[in-house]
Amino acid sequence: MTTIFDSIQIKNIKIQNRIVLPPLVRFSIIEKDGFVNDKLVEWYETIAKNGVGLIIVEASSVSENGKLRDNQLGIWDNKFIPGLKKIADKVHEYNTKIMIQVHHAGFKEKITDVSTEELDIILEDFKAAFKIAKTASFDGIEIHGAHTYLLSQLASHLWNSRTDKYGGDFNGRMHFAERLITETREIFNKDFILGYRMGGNEPELIDGIKIAKFLENLGIDILHVSSGIPNPEYKKEKKVDVPQDFPLDWVVYMATEIKKHVKIPVIAVRKIKKESQASWLIENNYVDMVAIGRAMLSNPDWIGYAKKLFLKRKENEKKENEKKEEKKCNGVARNAHENKENNELINIDIFCKIVDNYGDIGVVLRLGKELKKTLENKINLRIIISKIDELIAINPKIKDLDYQEFNNITYITNSYFEKNIQKLGVANLVIETFGCGIPDYYMELAYFNSEYILNLEYLTGEKWVNDFHMKESLLPKGSVKKYFYFPGFSEEAGGLVIREQIRKKVNAHKEKYLKKYYGEFLNPEKKLKGTIFSYEKNFIPFFDALKKLDEEVILMIFSTKTQNSIKNIFNKKIFGNAYKYGKIEMKFSKFLSQDQYEEIINVSDFNFVRGEDSATMAVTSGKPFLWQLYPQENNTHMEKLEGFLDTYTTFLNKNNKNIDDKNLTANLIKLFKDYNDKVDNYLDLGNESYLYFLKNIKNIERANIVFADYLLSKCNLINKLKSFIYEFLGGKK
Ligand SMILES: Cc1cc2nc3c(=O)[nH]c(=O)nc-3n(C[C@H](O)[C@H](O)[C@H](O)COP(=O)(O)O)c2cc1C
Repeated sequence: MTTIFDSIQIKNIKIQNRIVLPPLVRFSIIEKDGFVNDKLVEWYETIAKNGVGLIIVEASSVSENGKLRDNQLGIWDNKFIPGLKKIADKVHEYNTKIMIQVHHAGFKEKITDVSTEELDIILEDFKAAFKIAKTASFDGIEIHGAHTYLLSQLASHLWNSRTDKYGGDFNGRMHFAERLITETREIFNKDFILGYRMGGNEPELIDGIKIAKFLENLGIDILHVSSGIPNPEYKKEKKVDVPQDFPLDWVVYMATEIKKHVKIPVIAVRKIKKESQASWLIENNYVDMVAIGRAMLSNPDWIGYAKKLFLKRKENEKKENEKKEEKKCNGVARNAHENKENNELINIDIFCKIVDNYGDIGVVLRLGKELKKTLENKINLRIIISKIDELIAINPKIKDLDYQEFNNITYITNSYFEKNIQKLGVANLVIETFGCGIPDYYMELAYFNSEYILNLEYLTGEKWVNDFHMKESLLPKGSVKKYFYFPGFSEEAGGLVIREQIRKKVNAHKEKYLKKYYGEFLNPEKKLKGTIFSYEKNFIPFFDALKKLDEEVILMIFSTKTQNSIKNIFNKKIFGNAYKYGKIEMKFSKFLSQDQYEEIINVSDFNFVRGEDSATMAVTSGKPFLWQLYPQENNTHMEKLEGFLDTYTTFLNKNNKNIDDKNLTANLIKLFKDYNDKVDNYLDLGNESYLYFLKNIKNIERANIVFADYLLSKCNLINKLKSFIYEFLGGKK
């Protein structure tokens, strides 16, 4: 990228930067004789000393009667050479290059009335002035072809209605300029620049563009775009149409447009005051040089001022870049496409807030582990949780740290993440679990840097989720896309977080697992084995049913809530972790890890489960189960339950032609509903319902296995997520 402080080479002449002092007549300094005086030299010296790249000395008249004002600099006679040379030499001492503008004021609207001969003479005056400038050690001249003066008058079809060689069509109107250029070629060697200040609107921009191309073809070295003779229809400040979003002056706009049509360097001018404006033009290659007129008059050290701001801006940009680099080093992506191309890992962040009973974090941990297992070296996975102790409760191997890696997953607390967000960055794929909300500090970055956000909802069997799964959820801003992700018990929904290998493993080594979990009981294989994990509940009818069974029973009881609910039935008779009640043996088990809990589910004959994670384990084990949903105030959990029962029993009815008992699904529906009804009617849940369940264990299992097989093969959330990741995020396969 070119900056305003980069040099530019024109022919053999190297200009140290892109800033130009445009021609500015100093009438107040100059006498009527048109000679250079010390004050004028001093003025140009000041500008050169401050480091401008190029000075274009003010309009100097090529003939005594071509002046604009009496006290205008003259270049019509060799007598001016020493004075002019003083300026050029002084400026050269500071490594600033210097050109001089040669000018004839012309005849305004009367240009048509001027004789051909007079124009021929003026042409010769110009040629002579070029030579004077060269002799006076200038680096080049600028023909003043703008601002309604002679060459502008000739070029303008508004004013020039001449019928001789200097008028007529476009070529006629440009004939004077053409002759000037072609007849002085020998003067403009590699060390002498031929510049042209033209009107970008002569009268329209389209005419300006035509003139620019014409001049380039003739061999002009540099174009300086200013204003011409405007179309009188433009009454406003702008004399051409400028796009609304163009931030600078209309004359500057014309320069940027003309630059698009020529290869030679273009200077822009007018109302460029700030460093940022000049830099914007150069850094975006809109023009090649910028002229600073009045701003330089009021602050001759404009360059010094600009340099300070420029360096400050560059320093900030450097810091920004370093920050970006640092983020890259942390392996955290801001752009998934970048990753794809670089064949890098895909970053996934899972947000989780533990609301109650560890169910949420349970699902998140399973999700994390399974994702990592399936996509092992393709992803970086971070789990961001509200508090670390909740995690430790579920996995004691996790340490009490705000940031840690465990089994290739990074666990970070929310507060730590917030403090280090700049360093840690955001991920390609963000998974928000159970509407926990992604914190604002994260979202601000994610809006524009992440690729996808999945809003992972609670598991529900309700059928409407089939329609809403993967529907877009609109965000207020940014490029990131957010989708609803509904886990569910059907192919159309998002599936279940399943670990199918546990069922396979336990079934293949039944005895080993029987021993592992029921080894302390006598002949466990001959007894009915059940696990109970629930919220608070009245289990009296259940025990009544158990008493009526002929078989001996072993119950594994998990969680304080369940254990207390059962201990309450037997009052104070229970000490320690085991209790025997007739043919019923009970064990009040300690908290098991997720894997262990799923193993025992698969080796038991039936399971009473609670919440989402254990329901998934139970339903995919194929074992008969009862699911207690988290009880909600207004019984909304019952709607969820009905949705599940609908899906579950519809499937059983359709796919279990061998079920002997025609009432099986109807009985299951009643049982599940009674089991979940929060209203204090649990005594109504007659032991007959439980008895039916216990006596039909084999039947139910036969039906459930078909459902479990379907879920395992068609409704695996991890497989669905994996396809999503490949399809939408690409990455290393
Ligand atoms: C005091 C003054 C004198 C000027 N003299 C000339 C001149 O001799 N030749 C010329 O082409 N333009 C002349 N201009 C126009 C400037 O070169 C420049 O195009 C104009 O001031 C707009 O740029 P600015 O906004 O940076 O000042 C003059 C402008 C001012 C204010």
